[in-house]
Amino acid sequence: MTAYLAEDNRKVTTYRLTEMKQRGEKISMLTAYDYTMAGIIDQAGVDIILVGDSASNVMAGNVTTLPMTLDQMIYHGSSVMKAVQRALVVVDMPFGTYQGNSKEALASAIKIMKETRADCIKMEGGIEIIESVLRILSAGIPVMGHLGLMPQSINKYGTYAVRATEIDEAEKLISDAQALEKAGCFAVVLEKIPASLGCRIAQELTIPVIGIGAGQTDGQVLVLHDMLGMTQDFSPRFLRRYADLNSIMTSAVQEYIKDVKNADFPNENECY
Ligand code: KIV
Repeated sequence: MTAYLAEDNRKVTTYRLTEMKQRGEKISMLTAYDYTMAGIIDQAGVDIILVGDSASNVMAGNVTTLPMTLDQMIYHGSSVMKAVQRALVVVDMPFGTYQGNSKEALASAIKIMKETRADCIKMEGGIEIIESVLRILSAGIPVMGHLGLMPQSINKYGTYAVRATEIDEAEKLISDAQALEKAGCFAVVLEKIPASLGCRIAQELTIPVIGIGAGQTDGQVLVLHDMLGMTQDFSPRFLRRYADLNSIMTSAVQEYIKDVKNADFPNENECY
């Protein structure tokens, strides 16, 4: 195996993430849904890999994350786990597998942990899911929270606009974050909220706060296919594109088509 770009090659654990927060070291997190991409970003040194239910959009072409099933998340999670050596791997609990019934929530979390061998799970919600969070934690499964814009609740919001711009929602978000920390979550993701609120929550909590469109928090997360410029129809302000893989891939495929049509491929060195 090649060396990691990260200075510290030890496996990232929830404990080490707390240490990173304590010493002010920022945490990098990206999504991955398959073996090949997970291997590339793990070797590059990313701290946390999220097997997000955004696989519903990115991999399956759905409009929302709601159709994702437990078995589909397990398929993606176990593919990612086969490639990862260093990063902490978090698997999203899909919609409908944890809300409302904490026993079902625990059974879903155990199935994910057993069948993917991932390190932990992520759940969307605050006080309303705290019973499920506590039951899962009591089984020794680390839980990452997710507040702010929660894509599994898109039908309730009716819009992907910035959340918690009004005082009531901001106050609820702060008390939800505190409740998740008190329950024992090891970290929380904050999605698409005002930067001042994200920064304040990161300062107030002792657990790492990872932001996506939430300003300067303890770490950042982006969807891999978005930051690599593979997807084109999604351009929120928080998305920084680090590459234009869509153009690179399109040119490569067009060149291949041309070579095939012109009988330039395969040449005699490419034949047996
Ligand atoms: O599913 C996902 O990719 C996520 C990130 C946007 C945080 O939850």
